Amino acid sequence: MFFVTETKLTGDKPTVEFDHHSPEHASDPLGSFARVESKCPVAWSESHGGYWILTDYDAVAAAARDAITFSSAYSEEYGHPIFIPSPDDPFVLAPLELDPPDFAPYRRFLHPFLTQAAVRGLESGLQYWVDFFLDQVIESGRMELVEQFATPVPSTITIDWLGLKPTDWPLYAETVHLQMKSRPGTEERRRADAGYLELVARVDAAIRDRRRHPQPDIITLLANAKINGEPVPHELALGTLLLTINGGVNTTAVLVSHALIYLSEHRGLFDKLLQDDRFMRTSTEELLRHYCPILSIGRQASRSTELHDQHIEARDHVLLAWAAANHDAAKFEDPYELRLDRWPNPHLAFGLGPHRCIGSNLARAMFANMLRAFLKRVPDFRITNVTARDNRSIDNAFEAIDIEFTPGSRVLPQAEPSPQFRTSIQDSWPASAPGGPA
Ligand code: HEM
Repeated sequence: MFFVTETKLTGDKPTVEFDHHSPEHASDPLGSFARVESKCPVAWSESHGGYWILTDYDAVAAAARDAITFSSAYSEEYGHPIFIPSPDDPFVLAPLELDPPDFAPYRRFLHPFLTQAAVRGLESGLQYWVDFFLDQVIESGRMELVEQFATPVPSTITIDWLGLKPTDWPLYAETVHLQMKSRPGTEERRRADAGYLELVARVDAAIRDRRRHPQPDIITLLANAKINGEPVPHELALGTLLLTINGGVNTTAVLVSHALIYLSEHRGLFDKLLQDDRFMRTSTEELLRHYCPILSIGRQASRSTELHDQHIEARDHVLLAWAAANHDAAKFEDPYELRLDRWPNPHLAFGLGPHRCIGSNLARAMFANMLRAFLKRVPDFRITNVTARDNRSIDNAFEAIDIEFTPGSRVLPQAEPSPQFRTSIQDSWPASAPGGPA
């Protein structure tokens, strides 16, 4: 039975039965969005107090580009429009939860650390953590991919790169994971909220600590940054770190998980991926397009507007379905076919417009490093079990993926994280920054 059961006109709205938090949506997000689009590319659902669902490329792109009309800004009155429904916490995830022009200084702050050149400077650090986590399982001949490789590598890189303790990665990863998978109003969501407060407290303490004891890290720079000549407000320094952690921890993990499941059934592609850099690049974009790690995200109309002849009222909630836009046949030939050499590939997996993902260079570099190392060191991996996630309201994640392979050898000299090791940001360090190199 389809869960989009009917279209009816409710006060002129083309209404579908749709809930992006439902297990039915989680079991087949692309099919679920396609059924909404077949009714209307700008459809209305009565779930969670009511929201619009945008599914075709043009509508999603138009809304993403017009960040003023389709606002992602936190407000005390409405909470967090990026989440439908909004959680209760008051932490403003900058720059995403600030509208233009207020968001710009926070984006400008992050930018120098995430350019292509800056990310190239992180290469040896990325490689270290990839090897480190593969070393932990390589001799055993088995691993649970999500928990032991796909998640810890990007999580550790992100928090180490910011200046948090790398060995704390499970706190950050588990909290984000629980937030993503728990449904509003459930006991699991209450546990997720409690975990989030602990995470926030940890990041908050790190900012306060760096104001007293500067260190050569991004937290120190942010804690002491000036915005429009004034010290950065504490809560927005906190929010910038919270969003960056959120962006870095789970998303690349989802991409790696899907890529390895696909490749386990297409072993003939391993050599080409390892030897042909261009093919690795086009494959990365196509895997991003098709598996779209962030499936959808919310907005709130700041004024009334029209999209595809539908009237969207000021204050209406709107879901931007990136994954559906990536499968719009008007934009992509044979959109449900994975063509690893597809080019050009104007997918929306990283969003679009003013809030387009600022971490995309880092995400691509982490992905390429993880995939190459995995295919080289675990070439005969077999997937023995995949446990699906029953909430894919935002991310396209799996619960668990069990893998077996022929045991291999460790490559790093020591089993514990090297105390000297940092995911180096030295190459992208602004010269005038406190605590940075002269
Ligand atoms: C495959 C990996 C990733 C995917 C698919 C992804 C996806 C996205 C998407 C769709 C947006 C736009 C959100 C919106 O407009 O509502 C976004 C924004 C953002 N992402 Fe990513 N992301 C990834 C990796 C990362 C990484 C590694 C980081 C940081 C280290 C990061 C940090 C951010 C930040 C800070 C924003 C907000 C930018 C702004 O508001 O100006 N992301 N990401």
